[in-house]
Amino acid sequence: MTQTQAQQAPALQKDHDHILILDFGSQVTQLIARRLRESGVYCEIWPFNQAPEDRIRAYKPRGIILSGGPRSVLDEDSPRAPNIVFEMGVPVFGICYGQQTMVEQLGGKVEGEQSREFGRAFVDVLDHSEITTNVWDKGAHEQVWMSHGDHVAELPQGFEVIAKSDGAPFAFIADKKRKFYGVQFHPEVVHTLHGADLLKNFTHNVCGCKGDWTMASFRAEQIEKIRAQVGDGKVICGLSGGVDSSVTAVLIHEAIGDQLTCIYVDTGLMRAGESEQVVNLFRNHYNIPLIHEDASEKFLSGLEGISDPEIKRKLIGGMFIEVFDNCAARVSKDGKPAKFLAQGTLYPDVIESVSFGGGPSETIKSHHNVGGLPDDMEMELVEPMRELFKDEVRALGRELGMPEDFIRRHPFPGPGLAIRIPGEITQEKIDILRKADTIYLDEIRKSGLYDEIWQAFAVLLPVKTVGVMGDARTYDYVCALRAVTSTDGMTADYYPFEHEFLGRVSTRIINEVHGINRVVYDITSKPPGTIEWE
Ligand code: XMP
Repeated sequence: MTQTQAQQAPALQKDHDHILILDFGSQVTQLIARRLRESGVYCEIWPFNQAPEDRIRAYKPRGIILSGGPRSVLDEDSPRAPNIVFEMGVPVFGICYGQQTMVEQLGGKVEGEQSREFGRAFVDVLDHSEITTNVWDKGAHEQVWMSHGDHVAELPQGFEVIAKSDGAPFAFIADKKRKFYGVQFHPEVVHTLHGADLLKNFTHNVCGCKGDWTMASFRAEQIEKIRAQVGDGKVICGLSGGVDSSVTAVLIHEAIGDQLTCIYVDTGLMRAGESEQVVNLFRNHYNIPLIHEDASEKFLSGLEGISDPEIKRKLIGGMFIEVFDNCAARVSKDGKPAKFLAQGTLYPDVIESVSFGGGPSETIKSHHNVGGLPDDMEMELVEPMRELFKDEVRALGRELGMPEDFIRRHPFPGPGLAIRIPGEITQEKIDILRKADTIYLDEIRKSGLYDEIWQAFAVLLPVKTVGVMGDARTYDYVCALRAVTSTDGMTADYYPFEHEFLGRVSTRIINEVHGINRVVYDITSKPPGTIEWE
């Protein structure tokens, strides 16, 4: 079920001005969308090759942004913007590759040699433009972020130079009459100081967007949409304890009240106190009908004797679906099963990415998500957050008045503590790990570091080592601590704790948790490591 629906473009936010971003495959295209939305402008990212003329025309964008990309416009089969982009009479802003293809398509020239600039660079501002108004003054020397091999060498008719850099004589160009703009640098990344202001000038000054896309308006519109979609039908929403499913549930509940039933499958692999918190918040605080299914024994016995990480993940995913299915069957209306399934799908899951490689990417881990339910489940999806980025989901949670500690929670994987106990899982190991993890997070919170860290957790290693406590020999497990900073979980750096902090956590864990006599800190980044240990 999920595939076809997940691939549809998100619903158009008709009443708001909106901008279309055509993606040529840059690593930072999503940042363009984020910058625009931060200034209250709704926008969508479409792959350049899935934007036929009639689709673009029907979308009626106020302006179009052409993203960067990894290819060279000098290559024979390199991508081009659909010609309609330059014929609709709307402003166009080409960024890096987007600038180059615009120049090439409008009759200018791009060259490849001796022009590489990567990283921080400076431009000299030579002229005024609507985009630089109140941001860059004529004569200024401004910091930007570059990442290009080719550069524009000859401008198409009607264009003039607004700024230049050492490696890019046409670093910023404009055809003021047609409102076509092009930059060789990336205004969407934070290293281009004032880049967000330049983009805002494009959307607000040049395209005339009002910037009225706020979380309050999103909330009100989604509530209407949910009501229109489900009518008087029943909706089921799986809760994981995480932010996405929680915000989804609270929003849907606001729209349709008791037509929503939440299902929380307690795998027995959650952290200490987590299940109680979920039940408390949803059943007691929000009064949302909740099926709390304690399936911990099933999961524990199903995992008995299993050490292989992939088999563990698959078994957990399979058992989860089975239990969830059974719970869902209990939710019915007039003797008929619930028709709708809510999922906390986010925009990054929906954006179709531009792939130049062609082949499928390698499976590093088979992810299990609460949303990852069976293909044969014949339910219609309700996905009110398909248009949001993660930080926007948090903003929506705040808008809905959800508790701050819930909203700011670190991500927690679907398979739970099972993938933080390499090797065989036993109840004893789960209990030991829970205690160590609680102490570690307690110390992180007490030090005020929780919000600086993307994710922090303890791992119980399948290794026993010798120690000495009092005068006695011990032979207990090793506990590894992990903490990383990240913006999206795709790459990560280990967190540079003070030694004194690590020492304090280690002492507490060894003193307070029976079964652990040694603590180590994981200093691996991702890549080459992954965040979780399995
Ligand atoms: P890795 O370990 O792949 O993790 O670097 C990246 C992010 O994904 C989370 N993660 C999962 N989340 N189901 C989830 O919902 C999973 O099976 C799963 N595996 C890893 C991980 O915690 C980190 O935030």
